[in-house]
Amino acid sequence: MKNYSLDTIVSLAKRRGFVFQSSEIYGGLNGCWDYGPLGVELLNNIKQAWWKSMTYREDIEGIDASILMHPMVWEASGHIENFTDPMVDCRECKARFREDQIEESECGNKAFKGRKATKCMEEGKFTEARKFNLMFKTFIGAVESDDSVVYLRPETAQGIFVNFNNVRESSRQKIPFGISQIGKAFRNEINTKNFLFRTREFEQMEMQYFVKPGTDESEYEKWKEERLRWWQELGIKRERLRLSPHPQDKLAHYAKAAVDIEFEFPFGFGEIEGIHNRSDFDLKQHSEYSGKKLEYFDDVTKQRYIPFVIETSAGASRGFMAFLCNAYDEDEAPTAEGKLEKRSVLRFHPKLAPVKCAVFPLVNRDGLQEIARNITNDLKKNFNVFYDESGAIGRRYRRQDECGTPYCVTVDYDTLKDNSVTIRERDSMKQERINKDLVKKYISENTD
Ligand code: GAP
Repeated sequence: MKNYSLDTIVSLAKRRGFVFQSSEIYGGLNGCWDYGPLGVELLNNIKQAWWKSMTYREDIEGIDASILMHPMVWEASGHIENFTDPMVDCRECKARFREDQIEESECGNKAFKGRKATKCMEEGKFTEARKFNLMFKTFIGAVESDDSVVYLRPETAQGIFVNFNNVRESSRQKIPFGISQIGKAFRNEINTKNFLFRTREFEQMEMQYFVKPGTDESEYEKWKEERLRWWQELGIKRERLRLSPHPQDKLAHYAKAAVDIEFEFPFGFGEIEGIHNRSDFDLKQHSEYSGKKLEYFDDVTKQRYIPFVIETSAGASRGFMAFLCNAYDEDEAPTAEGKLEKRSVLRFHPKLAPVKCAVFPLVNRDGLQEIARNITNDLKKNFNVFYDESGAIGRRYRRQDECGTPYCVTVDYDTLKDNSVTIRERDSMKQERINKDLVKKYISENTD
């Protein structure tokens, strides 16, 4: 298993329409990215896989809360007080750094490219660290005043906590049960870096599991295993994942225990998901600040209590980057002349692949195009399919390999005789012939 450079992956992501820099024609906007035609499919497939696994079960309900919330939410949650990073400024080049990331940073002066920021620090160029709150502020309504300040949510979790009573009452769930949500979150990160890894706008896939106090530790262990399994089910090998528990003195203000699931990116291991035992912190805080009781009454034991919460918080955008890095590979493929040439391939799990199948007519005459078009149109009713009639077949395969398309179907002269087509699998490059009327069933069975 090779770990390829981030530059190689970023360049493919742009070339094939996975990810573009936001507002590129204006020079870009730091920490913001746009998903292109293949990117949005991959992202949707990741979110869909997560949603099915985390919501289509008896004990979990889904919601979609608003991004703007009452400002008291962030008072109660502790984000106004605690959601900060220690920031230092360089007096000379005016660059800003997270104090705890100086070692990984470079001097902001472009004339000194490659110079370590630690060197500038040793030379006494940095100010004292001060707290920088990561929440983006904006105003609600027509008047821009202190009274109309609202925040773009820095995590989706709070939308779940404030809806605890609504969801429990409407769904009649009993503890233990969970609430899931996928949505955008915003953090004004001091330093963005590594492509989609640390951005200012990103998406999270979060689930809060409400449990009886005292069962929280075993539920925490259960969810740790469950979530580790999910990443592997979608094609990430165990050796590219690791669990990194947070030491007690580094826990977030709400956490009793926390562990990160980390993936081995080209630049080393980095967090893709956090599992937290949030205790009863959030429900207690919101009960106190709102004056509304967020508690549970067990009608069997007649006990009333504030549930503890086990949170699973995965990054959809970071997950996207992990799946992209995990899928990228290079090997050799035979040319029409029988020579071997290098190919780049994205070995996505078929469930995640942005395009499930590509359809080619061998040549653009004798009715082959019409048959290929008909197969494409039929498949399009169920899958994202790509029709391609330009260039040599080998070149068409290479293009699809780079997009991660698991299957390519070729219509040739034998199709005219016996209705069969060639179906070629991306990773093994093996080809087999099947009846053209069975293609839909084949794609459905092998990509879902
Ligand atoms: N509700 C808990 C929470 O938000 P977190 O560890 O701060 O916990 C959870 O974030 C996940 O969100 C991370 O594991 C990561 O995948 C993603 N994430 C956090 N900050 C991010 C950023 N600046 N850019 C991209 N993804 C981010």
